[in-house]
Amino acid sequence: MDRRILLIIGGGIAAYKSCELVRLLARQGIAVTCVLTDAGAQFVTPMTLATLSGNRVHTSLWDAGEEAEIGHIQLSRAADLVVVCPATADLLARMAGGLAGDLATTLLLATDTPVLAVPAMNVRMWQHPATQRNLATLRADGVTVMEPDEGPMACGEYGPGRLPEPEQIAAEIMRLLPDPLAGQPDFAPDRPRPLHGRHLLVTAGPTHEAIDPVRFIGNRSSGRQGFAIAAAAAEAGARVTLVSGPVALPTPVGVDRVDVESAAEMQAAVIAALPADAAVMVAAVADWRPADAAAGKLPKSALTDTGIRLQPNPDILADLGHHPQRPSLLVGFAAETGDPRASAAEKRARKGADWIVANDVSGDVMGGTANQIHLVTANGAESWPQLPKDEVARRLVARIAEALDGRAHD
Ligand code: CTP
Repeated sequence: MDRRILLIIGGGIAAYKSCELVRLLARQGIAVTCVLTDAGAQFVTPMTLATLSGNRVHTSLWDAGEEAEIGHIQLSRAADLVVVCPATADLLARMAGGLAGDLATTLLLATDTPVLAVPAMNVRMWQHPATQRNLATLRADGVTVMEPDEGPMACGEYGPGRLPEPEQIAAEIMRLLPDPLAGQPDFAPDRPRPLHGRHLLVTAGPTHEAIDPVRFIGNRSSGRQGFAIAAAAAEAGARVTLVSGPVALPTPVGVDRVDVESAAEMQAAVIAALPADAAVMVAAVADWRPADAAAGKLPKSALTDTGIRLQPNPDILADLGHHPQRPSLLVGFAAETGDPRASAAEKRARKGADWIVANDVSGDVMGGTANQIHLVTANGAESWPQLPKDEVARRLVARIAEALDGRAHD
């Protein structure tokens, strides 16, 4: 499989390092298409990039001939990864603001491909609250941002803001690119609805465990990954029951949604939805609940005087793993930091699940739109690149369809 990168080059002195990056990527057999901003063209020429990449370089939104030939939307989606390097303070601000006044920002707004930004700028610009705010926005939008290096700068100052060396950037790109040997989701035209006739049960979101009528114990789960899986399963033709904790998300098209608050309610809704061919338990279920929720609002002093006595919640996944109507494929999620593979394998055995999808939650996975997962099955662990949650969902659903068809014996 050919791996393709769309490389957007912003206007900074570090742009010269992008030429070396193109050369390194080309040597790895990766196809690079370059887009040069007007400011970028002050530092490197289209000719240099065209020669190094072996591909035409795109510079203008207003090239009618080119628009007819390729179209900028198509250009933005034909790649496996969009890389912005160097990402200047101005370019980051325009990305964060959703502006689309030139070819580079139009492509970035139109793309549905993962984006890596490699910032480079003066140290004060890097440290400015406006830049830091823009970076936080971009990360929340699912953009991967590489930390700049620290050292002497072209402008004579010293500090963080230098573009990392091209070798380091190339390594990060290789980490994010899809593995060429991994199976791609195969919704082939002759098999467009691989889950037709199947019933999939998905849990999503947090649970809220009442302390009294106005207070609860909860967590930061947004429900996005579970909702994306329910949506992808419905698209693949399944009948989908989505048991959701309290979240602020619309119901995906074609999905039957059951809203619950607490773990006990979630468990009852899950059991009521059986039988199912597969269950994907994405919910971040609270492990504990207050032993005796008060019927009326507690005064402040009640908590400080007596504290909250907790009791464990039922483990819905483990109970389903040992239920007489256990779905033939049972998938659990695990929130881990660091290398999650060993603990996920242990969790898989303990809970009686077939697969555990281990999320690396050391970043902002719980509220964000991107996810990096390890799929732990009986055959070991498989690490996926960081992907938008929708794409994680599509790939996982394709694997579920394969497993249910008995094509893959995990
Ligand atoms: N789960 C569940 N019911 C619970 C707790 C968890 O169904 N009461 C499911 C979740 O939906 C998820 C998996 O079990 O599929 C997560 O297991 P958990 O033991 O909570 O693991 P982590 O969230 O990774 O946390 P920790 O290892 O710290 O317990």
